[in-house]
Amino acid sequence: MDIYQALKEDHQEAKKLFAEIEQSSGKTNDSREKLFTTLKEALENHSQAEEKVFYAPLKKKEETKDKIEHAKKEHQKVTKMLNELESMDNKDDQWLKKVSQLKEDVQHHIQEEEGEIFKKAQGIFSKEQAEEMARQFKQAKKQKA
Ligand SMILES: [Fe+2]
Ligand SMILES: [Fe+2]
Repeated sequence: MDIYQALKEDHQEAKKLFAEIEQSSGKTNDSREKLFTTLKEALENHSQAEEKVFYAPLKKKEETKDKIEHAKKEHQKVTKMLNELESMDNKDDQWLKKVSQLKEDVQHHIQEEEGEIFKKAQGIFSKEQAEEMARQFKQAKKQKA
């Protein structure tokens, strides 16, 4: 397991949760609420550990620092939207619209991450470093949970 696989696992999980929320009816809004709480915690935990373990060394490199700055701004935007959604009525149509918008933003972020950022990172980190980072990433997530 290397850092790329570890991050991808989380990305897949987030996509799954978005799909489940979009399919939830909102009538039995208990499950919708639980799914959203799970998604919010998962995304926040992922972003924090990702910034700490993966972004931090890449921010110091000339060839990745701009992309990392941009990605961090996207994390901030996602956090802001999650907080807004948390304070909205999840039975409302507007809530579901905003969830879809957030899903688009997150998918776009994941694409850039798994594409350009992973490609550059693979040229920077050795195989051993990438494996060590996966371990650190999982540790960082555990500490938050
Ligand atoms: Fe990520
Ligand atoms: Fe990210």
